[in-house]
Amino acid sequence: MITLDESLLDKNLKAGAIDEFITARRELIAGVLAGQYGMGDALGWFSVAENAGAAVLDNISDLAAKVREEAGVFVLAGVGGSNRAAQSVIEGLGYNLAEKPRIVYMGNTLSARAMQDALDSLEGKSIYANIIAKNFATLEPGIAFRLIRTQMRKVYGDSFAGRITVTGSFGGGQLAETAEERGFNFLEFPAAAGGRFSAFTAVGLFPMAVMGADIRRFVAGAAACEKRLKADPSGGIAARYAVIRYLLRRKGFTVENLAYFEPRLRMLGHWWLQLHGETEGKNGDAVLPVLTCFSEDLHAIGQYIQEGGRFLFASFLNFFDKTGMAVPPSGFDDGFSFLDGRSCDSLNPAVSKAAAEAYYQAGIPVLRFNAGGIDEETLGEFMYLQMMSAYFSAALLGVEPFDQNGVEQYKRNLQAELRGV
Ligand code: PA5
Repeated sequence: MITLDESLLDKNLKAGAIDEFITARRELIAGVLAGQYGMGDALGWFSVAENAGAAVLDNISDLAAKVREEAGVFVLAGVGGSNRAAQSVIEGLGYNLAEKPRIVYMGNTLSARAMQDALDSLEGKSIYANIIAKNFATLEPGIAFRLIRTQMRKVYGDSFAGRITVTGSFGGGQLAETAEERGFNFLEFPAAAGGRFSAFTAVGLFPMAVMGADIRRFVAGAAACEKRLKADPSGGIAARYAVIRYLLRRKGFTVENLAYFEPRLRMLGHWWLQLHGETEGKNGDAVLPVLTCFSEDLHAIGQYIQEGGRFLFASFLNFFDKTGMAVPPSGFDDGFSFLDGRSCDSLNPAVSKAAAEAYYQAGIPVLRFNAGGIDEETLGEFMYLQMMSAYFSAALLGVEPFDQNGVEQYKRNLQAELRGV
């Protein structure tokens, strides 16, 4: 079970102040726990069972098993909330390293070079694809879908359609209609779940299952977390994390640096970044989430974090993988003999402790999420916990959690630019 260690906050925020704030916000917390905040028709994620019940999991698993069996390469095309949860789990558990199927991401860039490279990497392989778009009007997946279709038609003729699964919505021009007309497999993108809240729907679960993740364990981790949080009238660590971030922001700590230690968790970090940034960043008053990979970034931006400005707080993702590898003896005196035979698995926990203590000494508030390892259940638990916490944060800030109107302006500008108006 994931725990939140607050012990390195005390120079800036006392546990008593957090408790007091939570007690004073009893009604707000009860409202959030009852799903009474924000647009009520966007709460499809709130109860994990709603879009990840037994029948849905069976259906997704059956289709995924077929694709997994037959695919040499699996193209996952989507952007933002439509692909990040799946990519987080696939990379977090190392399934992206598998040779069969190999995974190729598209629909998340407008770089012609990246799109060409992705297409080139499909040559000679048995291609299957999953195109994901809640609103099939987003340029990146729209272009990617055209490129993928064109390439697959060239290779497979008209039978290419059976190799494509689209995950989308109902309505004119949306992917349900296109699937019906063109013979693609179809999975529903639930209308009541926005992209960044879609991990526990077909959006996240199908690609995870194709790549070999145990989606039942992933969903079970989330469901257990949901049960715990909803059974606690104070909102458990989801509310506590939101309150801490809120109070630190009020004390001038406006930037939260999430540090992860396993490079495999890069996309989980990016998923977290989007979830909090897009849910909370709406009224000029939210914490800016940023991301670093330690220990590498300790040798780069680490200097700035330590001494560069008094507006940063740190959250550490103490999720460590284990390999059993040990430091081999040296044939000569290289200065590292004190590590001979030491488990390599102990190095990351040691650097986490060292960095946390250095920040504490410098007066930087540090929070630590601790878990026993990295597996499907832990990732499911973490994602549900963060979704609930972002929901709490939005309620504290008084913003609508489930829209992202700010994103629309660049989309309008881009359309105008490309249409030449
Ligand atoms: O969280 C969100 O709702 C957004 O980030 C969307 O996921 C993203 O904009 C992609 O949207 P769509 O699936 O409609 O292409």
